[in-house]
Amino acid sequence: MQQTQLPLKGFSKLSNSEKIGLISQFAKLDVEQFNQTLNSFHHTDNQSLFDQISENTLSNYLLPYGIAPNFLIDEHWYFVPMVTEESSVIAAASKAASFWANRGGFKTHVSSLIKNGQIHFYFDGDGAALKKAEKEIIQSILPIINPLLKKMEERGGGYKNGFFSQTGESDKHLWQLSLQMDTANAMGANFINTCLEKLAPELLQQISNHPELKPTLKSEPYILMCILSNYTPECLVECMVECHPNDLTPLCGNLTTREFLQRFEQAVYVATFDEHRAATHNKGIFNGIDAVMLATGNDFRAVEANGHTHAARTGQYRSLSRVSISKDHFSFSLSIPLSVGTVGGLTTLHPLAKLSLQLLENPNATQLMSIAASVGLANNFMAITSLITSGIQKGHMKMHLSNILVSLNATPMQIKKAQQHFKHKTISVNEVQLFLQQNKTT
Ligand code: MEV
Repeated sequence: MQQTQLPLKGFSKLSNSEKIGLISQFAKLDVEQFNQTLNSFHHTDNQSLFDQISENTLSNYLLPYGIAPNFLIDEHWYFVPMVTEESSVIAAASKAASFWANRGGFKTHVSSLIKNGQIHFYFDGDGAALKKAEKEIIQSILPIINPLLKKMEERGGGYKNGFFSQTGESDKHLWQLSLQMDTANAMGANFINTCLEKLAPELLQQISNHPELKPTLKSEPYILMCILSNYTPECLVECMVECHPNDLTPLCGNLTTREFLQRFEQAVYVATFDEHRAATHNKGIFNGIDAVMLATGNDFRAVEANGHTHAARTGQYRSLSRVSISKDHFSFSLSIPLSVGTVGGLTTLHPLAKLSLQLLENPNATQLMSIAASVGLANNFMAITSLITSGIQKGHMKMHLSNILVSLNATPMQIKKAQQHFKHKTISVNEVQLFLQQNKTT
């Protein structure tokens, strides 16, 4: 058989069967089996839709779609759809949701829906003169995007602010025009990027021909790039749960309530001052947030980038959540910028994303931000609670047991027996394998 010449040209132009033939040859896979596995995940009704969403699509990759019930958020009940591959995430979110539902639920505040984007440009003229001409230049270029702004205004958003700033310190000639836009219920990435790219040539013209700037130029200014920022500090969600410290007693395990409170505070302290712990602590928050983002067709990579940038805003990467404990008050809160959409993009295209939004009673962006932050805080609360009491492995391994059993093709009877057998035992693949061998007939 002919060897594939690499790098390959025009892969995307091949038909699916050509692609499959080629890569099965490359990866030395049986083409029939490869085809069978891919086909078994094809969608009977919507395959052409999924094919169009991405590039070089051969099949679909399934992840579990589950529900965390009993979320009381701002006095409204939600059954929250979550998509995650990690077995304990929905269980933890649900447990925290029920616990806090009996203690007033989650209270949230969203500061705004303002996103931002930048036109980065090279300018070696007089920076002070550029700043002085800021308002005039911005006002003169904005009309080019009037039709886009008008549409966004009809949806409740629009242009908010714009300003020039120098980027960094070592290269004095790199500048940016930042634009702030309220994108209402849309995440707004396409809207902002389109606006920036339309404005860029106008900006260049204005700067090159401006009577106060032109004489100061040593060389021609140019546009470096136009792109939205995934850091949206204005879109801050504050989310909180609170109760009397004694209300936490049911979660204390072998600890006294006093010990539990002290250790909870210490755990958050560690995540505030130690970046190794902070990364894992915040990952636990994103376990919940990402699962909601995926279920609702939102861009979880953008949401993660946003949160991590916020976590590092002081120059040190820190916990996104805080705890405050006094004699008669416990409060646990999360402060995180979230950029989400409930219209446009996958939210309307993907049938399950659409369904998720329906399950949440078609929330606006503000409500979805509140829901996602609450789930993030719920997961964080439960993770800390487990870590300082029973440890994380007990719950994790219980869920993990079912995964091991399924992967080892255990029968329903074996599963039942194994669940009983491993209730108070250490779970490992080897141990489970041994158990199944010893319980073959059942
Ligand atoms: C596991 O996915 C998440 C945790 O590690 C979070 C944490 O440690 O806080 C349990």
